[in-house]
Amino acid sequence: MKTALITGVTGQDGSYLAEFLIDKGYDVHGTIRRSSVDFRERITHLEGHRNFHLHYADLGDSMSVMQVVNKVRPDEIYNLAAQSHVQVSFDSPEFTADVDAIGVLRILEAVRLCGLGETCRIYQASTSELYGKVEEVPQNENTPFHPYSPYAVAKLYGFWIVKEYREAYGMFCCSGILFNHESERRGETFVTRKITLAAARIAQGKQDKLYLGNLSSMRDWGYAKDYVECMWLILQHERPEDFVIATGEQHSVREFATLAFRNVGIDIEWQGSGADEKGIDKATGSVLVEVSPDFYRPTDVVNLWGDPTKARAELHWNPQKTTFEQLVKIMTDADMAKVAVERAGESVRTNLAEYLEKGIVK
Ligand code: NAP
Ligand code: GDD
Repeated sequence: MKTALITGVTGQDGSYLAEFLIDKGYDVHGTIRRSSVDFRERITHLEGHRNFHLHYADLGDSMSVMQVVNKVRPDEIYNLAAQSHVQVSFDSPEFTADVDAIGVLRILEAVRLCGLGETCRIYQASTSELYGKVEEVPQNENTPFHPYSPYAVAKLYGFWIVKEYREAYGMFCCSGILFNHESERRGETFVTRKITLAAARIAQGKQDKLYLGNLSSMRDWGYAKDYVECMWLILQHERPEDFVIATGEQHSVREFATLAFRNVGIDIEWQGSGADEKGIDKATGSVLVEVSPDFYRPTDVVNLWGDPTKARAELHWNPQKTTFEQLVKIMTDADMAKVAVERAGESVRTNLAEYLEKGIVK
């Protein structure tokens, strides 16, 4: 039985990956952080499973990283832990650098110092944000990087230190350059989930309006459940290499919102432009979507579009397993069901998260 260690197991990807690896017969260990409230909802269903174990560790704390690596002595490490919100990285750049950049180094050094450098394979959760202010479309493994946020700059260090350890010490460590991937478990302040939750609440009369930032931003959105398979495939490959993981299709935030509202029975018509653009309910004439400059970023990445040719050819991975239309439907259906049973106070947490994103509450 192989042993895997997943950092960030409470996150969207960590929870799907844990399920995937347990199904493959792995003994799965995950790291969690101490919190005064319980945010383990994505993995509650796994707790108590005989092949699922939790350990406290924080990527900002070398000793805790070293301890967990030494105790578990894994065959594979999936380093998914990160401060993963781009907007938040502008408000907390130092924390983001410590966790998303130096945190990667802490994992690599722990593996090396625990004498696991020759046996333990390491997957690093890298990102299409490295392409940032993009220099070509679509982006592949040879496209130059141009990071455009504190988050992306930190992740760029993670990418290069993984490559360095591979070449300097011959370690099997690889980066998956993953484009945006979403799901019904996506954090509620990422744009897709913010839209599907709001569309569900508006359709059920529990919210009046949705405020968004840049509607024209383009993303290559895939389904998170499909993407965790790739993380595993990258570590099963005969050679340690980096891979772009994407669908090869690009859509705007506006298109995502149009489709999400259509799925809940509302046809949106867009009027105006820039900060004055509005999404109007064709049936009633009500304004349901407005632009708020609070959600504009100091520098925004607006043209992500991945080329998954290498992953398709070498990992035999199907980038189109879940289509864009299916993804939006999975998310809106899940949020329609969630909102239908939502108690009055439950949206408060989302509102707080949104205030944090806007920088109103620090
Ligand atoms: P997520 O839902 O935000 O999960 C992040 C995880 O990291 C959570 O479990 C979080 O724990 C943990 N974490 C945060 N700070 C930590 C620290 N200091 N020490 C230990 N754990 C910490 O992110 P995701 O969407 O699953 O993404 C997983 C990884 O892939 C991240 O590294 C992200 O940057 C990267 N990525 C994501 C995408 C995407 O589209 N989803 C695309 C490319 C790359 P808490 O629950 O305690 O906060
Ligand atoms: N969050 C948010 N909220 N984004 C908005 C909004 C809004 O109200 N309105 C427009 N956007 C735009 C953002 O400006 C950005 O261009 C785009 O929607 C996507 O934003 P997010 O959903 O927050 O994701 P992201 O692309 O910045 O980052 C995610 O994907 C990266 C991979 O490319 C995260 O998961 C990162 O961790 C990941 O690396």
